[in-house]
Amino acid sequence: MSRNMRAFKNILITGGAGFIGCNFIRFLLEKADGFSGRIINLDVLTYAGNSMSLADIEAHYGASRRYFFEHGDICDRAFVESIFKKYDIDTVVHFAAESHVDRSILGPEAFIKTNVMGTFTLLDVARNTWKAADGNIRQDALFHHISTDEVYGSLGDTGFFTEATPYDPRSPYSASKASSDHLAMAYSHTYGLPVTLSNCSNNYGPYQFPEKLIPLMILNMLEGKALPVYGDGKNIRDWLYVEDHNAAVWTIMQKGASGKTYNIGGENEWENIKLLNVLIDIVSKKAGIDADKIRGAITYVKDRPGHDRRYAIDCSKIKRELGWKQTVSFEEGLEHTVDWYLANPSWIENIRSGEYQHWIKRNYGER
Ligand SMILES: NC(=O)c1ccc[n+]([C@@H]2O[C@H](COP(=O)([O-])OP(=O)(O)OC[C@H]3O[C@@H](n4cnc5c(N)ncnc54)[C@H](O)[C@@H]3O)[C@@H](O)[C@H]2O)c1
Repeated sequence: MSRNMRAFKNILITGGAGFIGCNFIRFLLEKADGFSGRIINLDVLTYAGNSMSLADIEAHYGASRRYFFEHGDICDRAFVESIFKKYDIDTVVHFAAESHVDRSILGPEAFIKTNVMGTFTLLDVARNTWKAADGNIRQDALFHHISTDEVYGSLGDTGFFTEATPYDPRSPYSASKASSDHLAMAYSHTYGLPVTLSNCSNNYGPYQFPEKLIPLMILNMLEGKALPVYGDGKNIRDWLYVEDHNAAVWTIMQKGASGKTYNIGGENEWENIKLLNVLIDIVSKKAGIDADKIRGAITYVKDRPGHDRRYAIDCSKIKRELGWKQTVSFEEGLEHTVDWYLANPSWIENIRSGEYQHWIKRNYGER
């Protein structure tokens, strides 16, 4: 189906108060060429969801009725149905998930609930809501499912994950994401639901919760704390600036073929320890802290159980077929990211103190 046939009038974004979701909402409203519709951000606001990240968007686009926030759980079918009806949803971009591998090792249940059952609930509500009078599902609608390269397992020193790589998830997180990917594709094949899917490598950028590697390290450097590195520090990840991920998702929404998967990656592989050394140089320069002093805080810690060694994405399909490419170099992206954390101490303080959770309760009540 071509771009012009897709509606994009009322886009339901799940998990829009999280790291990538909030960046994507900003991108759609402020940068995406040709989008003039409404965004409905549905988020249950777990520890990782922070609707204060979008306070300026809510003030500006809430007033012009292009942005709406709905506090709720994607596993709550009645609630999800009511949102589809209330806003006449024609597009879903599904980011909501439990997303941290370490947390999935400590407590996998929440991952199965949100990532598997939540995705199932959204798909099933979309299937029922988008059914036309003749029983067929309307094809101008779109369900874009956001997933990860971690579903493909771990690589040795060579090779890349392509869209044809068999799934081999190794952590409860990646297993739950793999299940959700299979469900999304099953809804496409079985019911004809218009689904596109993307598997992306590690993102970094503004608004990322400081439990993930890059923001955790930046904040620990600024606060003179230890810099914990798993194992020998030589695990490799492929890093992509979040804005490039946003543009890739928007490209797939416009031009991607229904029932197809697209890999998105940075073509930017780094060993954790080497990445850390680049980050130390940037933070040292920008914050005026001695680089050797920061380096002295590197502390090797016991490896994560089942830690995948290397991820690397072959993203030639989305480049070739849809014309997307990365635009932000790693150095540039890291500089923007460090600048953002330096310029936003109140966002960090709110997260650290838990103030944003009190704010959520005051504004939205318990859910
Ligand atoms: N961060 C990465 O590097 C990366 C890479 C590839 C893919 N992804 C995928 O991108 C998506 C977003 O990742 P992120 O890093 O922004 O995650 P995040 O943890 O920062 O945000 C997740 C958001 O989902 C919300 N949420 C969780 N459970 C919910 C539920 N039951 N109902 C409604 N909302 C719920 C949270 O409140 C939060 O706002 C995820 O699907 C993740 O698997 C992330």
